[in-house]
Amino acid sequence: MTSAGGRPVSSEAPAKLNFYLHVTGRRADGYHELDSLIVFAAPFDRVSAVPAKDLSLELSGPFAGELNAAGGQNLVEITARRLAELAGIQPAACITLDKQLPVAAGVGGGSSDAAAALRVLTSLWQLNIDLDDLQALALSLGADVPMCLHGKTCFAGGIGERLEAAPALPDCALVLVNPGLSLATPNVFNARNGAFTAPARFDEAPADAAALAEILAARRNDLEAPAKMLAPVIDDVLHALASLPGSRLARMSGSGATCFALFDDCDAAVAAAHALRAQHRDWWITPSRIIHPV
Ligand code: C5P
Repeated sequence: MTSAGGRPVSSEAPAKLNFYLHVTGRRADGYHELDSLIVFAAPFDRVSAVPAKDLSLELSGPFAGELNAAGGQNLVEITARRLAELAGIQPAACITLDKQLPVAAGVGGGSSDAAAALRVLTSLWQLNIDLDDLQALALSLGADVPMCLHGKTCFAGGIGERLEAAPALPDCALVLVNPGLSLATPNVFNARNGAFTAPARFDEAPADAAALAEILAARRNDLEAPAKMLAPVIDDVLHALASLPGSRLARMSGSGATCFALFDDCDAAVAAAHALRAQHRDWWITPSRIIHPV
């Protein structure tokens, strides 16, 4: 996060990927219980804020239009109001959201933006809020917001809010693909049926992409089947990703429709993304890398 002397306070909001996602149960309130390996990756949205008399939000970036089209109050604006309420102050800031991540895409963009807004506004408003209160506020904004506030590779349990350290992951590269399709998370969860899956955490730190792919291949994303039912093009994306030279594993993230493939290094991922773009000009395709925050 950058700050100081009149300059904007700013924070990156990376993509959040579920390297595996097992639906382990369902609570009485309808929320699903999960066991998931959470990883953060490029690219990033960016939330910035400067002092102002009132609260305002400006959107920029390639996916700003989609957010505008979605209508309603943006989660960043809701976050600002709720944080100010918790702190007992007036919400006053000029916030900008640079939207580089696809919307309603299974990469946690909205949740990551909300978490970045919490970081930025806590700093801008010089708040000293108890960490438990901040995590509770994060959870009230969405099940994935606490993990995005945490911002590090972790296992997530509960409905996504119970976070535990995961083994260190190797420096492998990724290709992310979204076929230009928004999927509403509740619809995907509601389309899921069948038995629940046992949790499948692991202790060993994989040495390289091959070892990580082997661990992940023994796990899955339980939301892939219902998402494919709602959007069969996801199957095409997964096949395309699996067929790329050097691709070690292809999987959907979150509730979709974004999918990722795992590669040994950035050169392989960049070449694969380039090749795929030539075949699918209407898909959002980007090489990516795992972020290892300290
Ligand atoms: O918490 P969030 O607003 O991100 O969740 C959106 C919807 O996704 C929930 O209302 C619920 O239908 C579904 N969901 C779920 N189980 C989770 C997370 C989300 O059923 N663990």
